[in-house]
Amino acid sequence: MTSTAPSADPRAATPPTADPVLRVRDLRAHVAGQQVVEHVDLDVAPVGVTALLGRNGVGKTSTIKAVLGLVGRSGTVELDGTDLVDLPTHLVVRRGVGYVPEDREVFAGLTVTENLRLAERRGSEHRYDLVYDLFPELEQRGTQAAGTLSGGQQQMVSLARALLNENRVLLVDEPTKGLAPRLVQEVSRVLARAAQVAPILLVEQNLQVVRDLADHAVVLTDGRSVHHGPAADLLADEELTQRLLGVHADSGPDAAGRRPADEEGPA
Ligand SMILES: Nc1ncnc2c1ncn2[C@@H]1O[C@H](COP(=O)(O)OP(=O)(O)O)[C@@H](O)[C@H]1O
Ligand SMILES: [Mg+2]
Repeated sequence: MTSTAPSADPRAATPPTADPVLRVRDLRAHVAGQQVVEHVDLDVAPVGVTALLGRNGVGKTSTIKAVLGLVGRSGTVELDGTDLVDLPTHLVVRRGVGYVPEDREVFAGLTVTENLRLAERRGSEHRYDLVYDLFPELEQRGTQAAGTLSGGQQQMVSLARALLNENRVLLVDEPTKGLAPRLVQEVSRVLARAAQVAPILLVEQNLQVVRDLADHAVVLTDGRSVHHGPAADLLADEELTQRLLGVHADSGPDAAGRRPADEEGPA
């Protein structure tokens, strides 16, 4: 079922997912003294990929940070039915919320292996088999400083850190940003496999990636969730994608109209 606000549809504010792994209601958050998340409702389905979409600056990253408790927040943030809104970030993470931040945030001066070792969470199994199966290059480059990797390889390190631990849900923020088309496909392929391990909330500007991966979509406008529904329905609706995302769903590689930079060398 698709719901869009503003509209006369009384279902407009109601995310449709049954038994979500992550259930967010009336999330509000301040960043730098400004309320950038005003009212976000969203459900992350227990399997597959749920896309979190919207134009630049609408509050997607802030919403993810608010779920993690990286910024002050209020509302309801339920993981498997337990409200985490009062927990500090390290306890939210320990409950099984994996985070792949925008801009990767690898430790540039540490090796690939050290980056992974630092990500090991106590009390979780560490799935090096899975990680090295998904990213054989990271095993080969284990002794290389992460800062000397290409942007695409650093993204793999960032994803690998989240996949290393047993997570209930992964929050992945713009993983294909700035990547060359070949690497976008590679990241997309990895995300598809990752989603078989844990459900993903994915912020993504590349609508082809959304089309390939996402089952559900939530759209933000000005810090508010204004649309919930099947991703395919949203992307099939030209008027809706134009109005909510500012693009035609078939208008190229990037919802913001940017061309991805070619990132073959060190970032
Ligand atoms: N550290 C910050 N200082 C000041 N303003 C910020 C900061 N981070 C985000 N904002 C503002 O909050 C709003 C939402 O930002 P963000 O969550 O990053 O949006 P998105 O991820 O959708 O592009 C924007 O208007 C942005 O300018
Ligand atoms: Mg962002």
